[in-house]
Amino acid sequence: MKFADLLIHSASTMVTMEGHSGSPARGEKMSEVGLREDGAVAMREGAIVAVGTTEEVLAGGWVGPETRRISAQGKVVSPGFVDPHTHVIYAGSRENELSLKLKGVPYLEILKQGGGILSTVRSTKQATDEEIKAQTRRRLQTMLSLGTTTVEVKSGYGLTLDEEMRALRLIKELDSEQVIDLVPTFMGAHAVPSGYSEEEFTNYIIADVLPQIAARNLAEFCDVFCEPGIFSVHSSERILSKAKQLNFRLKIHADELDAAGGAELAAKLGVTSADHLLQASDGGIAALAEQGVIAVLLPATSFNLAKNSYARARDMISAGVPVALATDSNPGSSPTESMPLVLTLACLYLRLTPEEALTAATINAAHAIGRADEVGSIEVGKQGDVLILDIPNLNYLPYHFGNNPVGTVIKRGKVVWN
Ligand code: NIG
Ligand code: FE
Repeated sequence: MKFADLLIHSASTMVTMEGHSGSPARGEKMSEVGLREDGAVAMREGAIVAVGTTEEVLAGGWVGPETRRISAQGKVVSPGFVDPHTHVIYAGSRENELSLKLKGVPYLEILKQGGGILSTVRSTKQATDEEIKAQTRRRLQTMLSLGTTTVEVKSGYGLTLDEEMRALRLIKELDSEQVIDLVPTFMGAHAVPSGYSEEEFTNYIIADVLPQIAARNLAEFCDVFCEPGIFSVHSSERILSKAKQLNFRLKIHADELDAAGGAELAAKLGVTSADHLLQASDGGIAALAEQGVIAVLLPATSFNLAKNSYARARDMISAGVPVALATDSNPGSSPTESMPLVLTLACLYLRLTPEEALTAATINAAHAIGRADEVGSIEVGKQGDVLILDIPNLNYLPYHFGNNPVGTVIKRGKVVWN
């Protein structure tokens, strides 16, 4: 018998998230995090081979002379965080918009004046492949240090066929060149560039862009910014229906700034996830629950837009909508890489318990990007993506905020950050 490469043992608390890999956790199941006291996990060749108490794992025969042992005594062990909604592939930054925001200029007004997303489109177009990759690599490195081991990345700062293909190609390259696993999403319908009407640009995406992205297999998901003044429910339905025909899985930025029926459209199309949802109607929430659509909530965006308005997570959980959490990391509405910050905001403002928040940031987030068979829980057969958190108990995770609770990050069974 071959021995494990790595053993984490003696964790005060190990959160396994076991039992949710088949379908996302909803309702009361979001509180079932699979706690083990004196927990241990053994990994070999990148995968988890044994999970249990320290005594059980040691008795299982996996631990031999060549096994590296790390004690997690007094600490919490959890699955690596999965961030299922980011826009990290871009060049530049937009700190200049802070003063506009503080003067009360709305986010969509900045975009209408040619700033916002369109300003990042310009800075990205001017950058070389290497510059975009170097800047994105740094963001991913920050994410890793904060415990994130799998990340969805959307294109959408290109808005032409060539620039969108370039972004998706760079995501693929970065996926193989650094530690975090990346899941690519095509989001060409992120803003309407100047020179186009909404309808003309929608036609362009449908006829000229989507089929090329599909033919080259550059993305798994297709996403749309469905928002009045950007892409209407009608345009979003046209784009996502075409994407579905081309075998993309679907996502939608829905009901973020205005109630427009985005959640209802998400349910009608059977998307994998509907994201933001601050203004989702009661009927929209019921429809998401009915269809089993995952709500990806982004409290760091609410926080950063400073509008004191957060998604109705408690109503969603009561209605049976599976909830996931993400950073929405992007240069405008959410310039952060921190899932620990998102967990704190989720507890304070979405009113999730620490258990629900951690479920939302691990196994439900993995479901939201089609990776629940591989990551999101500490179970035999899954990838060895494990965190040792430098905290005494689970409540401490959202409680002590603005710092990094992560002590050690293990990706595919190897220590990659500590
Ligand atoms: O999810 N809503 C659209 N896209 C991003 C913002 C992108 C940006 O401002 O650059 C979001 O908030
Ligand atoms: Fe977003």
